[in-house]
Amino acid sequence: MKISVIKGNITTIKTAAVIAVHFEDDNRLQGAAKLLDEACGGIISETISEGVFTGKRYETSIVETRGAIQPKRIILVGLGKRDECDLDRVRGAFSKGAQTVRTLRMTTCATSADLGTTPLPLDRIAQAAIEGALLGLYRFTPFKTADGDTPTELEEFTLVDGDAASAKIVRRGARTGEVISRAVSFARDLVAAPSNEMTPTILARKAREVAKDRNIAITVRGAAAMKKMKMNALIGVAQGSHEPPQLITMEYQGARTQQRPIVLIGKGITFDSGGISIKPAERMEEMKTDMSGGAAVIGTMMAVADLKLPVNIIGIIPTTENLPGGGAYKPGDVLRAMSGKTIEVINTDAEGRLVLADALTYAQRFKPRAMIDMATLTGACIIALGDFITGMMGTDEQLKDMIRNASRTTGETVWELPLYDDYNELLTSDIADVRNVGTRAGGAITAALFLKRFAGDVPWVHLDIAGPAWLAKDRPYTPKGASGVGVRLMVELLTNWTDKKRS
Ligand code: BES
Ligand code: MN
Ligand code: ZN
Repeated sequence: MKISVIKGNITTIKTAAVIAVHFEDDNRLQGAAKLLDEACGGIISETISEGVFTGKRYETSIVETRGAIQPKRIILVGLGKRDECDLDRVRGAFSKGAQTVRTLRMTTCATSADLGTTPLPLDRIAQAAIEGALLGLYRFTPFKTADGDTPTELEEFTLVDGDAASAKIVRRGARTGEVISRAVSFARDLVAAPSNEMTPTILARKAREVAKDRNIAITVRGAAAMKKMKMNALIGVAQGSHEPPQLITMEYQGARTQQRPIVLIGKGITFDSGGISIKPAERMEEMKTDMSGGAAVIGTMMAVADLKLPVNIIGIIPTTENLPGGGAYKPGDVLRAMSGKTIEVINTDAEGRLVLADALTYAQRFKPRAMIDMATLTGACIIALGDFITGMMGTDEQLKDMIRNASRTTGETVWELPLYDDYNELLTSDIADVRNVGTRAGGAITAALFLKRFAGDVPWVHLDIAGPAWLAKDRPYTPKGASGVGVRLMVELLTNWTDKKRS
């Protein structure tokens, strides 16, 4: 879909449909709705006064213009109460509008970021509108062959503003929204791909494609290099599969200074069968998504480089399958991790923390200012917080606050769970330094406590995205399936991360 921003008049623009948003508690029309209403002899006012459309959140109504203006149809979308409106609702409304246009098999539409009186900045509204439209229209189609009933795609989405100075602001926001949405969609594609088409080798190739043509340096290391570095926890997990594991490192230098980097680490298990501690068959197919953290890191690197953010960032993705092959690691095995710590494997299905342990140790060679890992780490986190909320645990209050702030803007909800020190005893092994599982109770916390032992003294935050990485049902601008969670959150965090706020 082509995104454009033009200075012009929404009522005379050549397009199939226009989207106009409206707040339920406004008794007078504002913004684009007002201009369109005047040009169409009060047709929108009438729809509202007759009670056909009230402006409730995400309510939609289709108005035929019958030749009054060039566009054939006006898609009205409700924004709910004006003072309750935030950027997430803007995303949802424009997603609904764009989806409605597509359902009507129209291929072009125009709209405006002018919502009337609001404390939300214009560039942010434009960004949110584009994010809503692009993310809401996302579909994963590579494995659908043409069956005669090919769905139409929206080809052009135009933001119009009557004022040249405002149009410039809208253009800046729309461009940011487009870059970020493309990165989220890229991450979604990686996650949605089946594991036979998204092996560690293919994931590394995708990362290389992202790095190419961008200011990103990349190295991919195989098993031999891992052995040399003594990454035996990662190698242990990889042993049961014929697919070679990969350690992907992406480096982006956006700061002029030699400032220390922020390291992002993403769990990259391209399929998690559980290994010898094998998972039940039911819904095991969803374990193709166990590289969602890695996908979020690759998507973030992509957006950050395209936006030329003035920060230094390193993305690390340890990637492997977790399978119960003949060479597989077994319950009871002891692995000597890269840090030198020994790990007794109680359950081979707790593999994420093992690959992350070595990645966290490896990351410290870059002398990071901070490390953030994203991982579909525990079913227990889903039990604790449900399907939509990311669990957050970490050692640095300021970093957690910054992530919380970013999450309020992006709508990717995070909630902190305590890194409760007394639960450490649950990780005590009789024969090694640590065991790889605690109890079922508090499983998200013991997983994080395990990781903490490998984070050294670097400020570190762990984000457990097991719930929100994959959706069973549509959400406002996230169709069911891969969500791409974490990309927008990290880009927002890194955008806000200037030296003024944090050294
Ligand atoms: N990848 C899973 C966690 C997961 C479960 C993600 C459901 C998304 C949906 C992880 O590797 C795992 O298997 N964790 C175990 C840990 C347990 C053995 C301590 C779990 O949560 O059951
Ligand atoms: Mn597992
Ligand atoms: Zn896993």
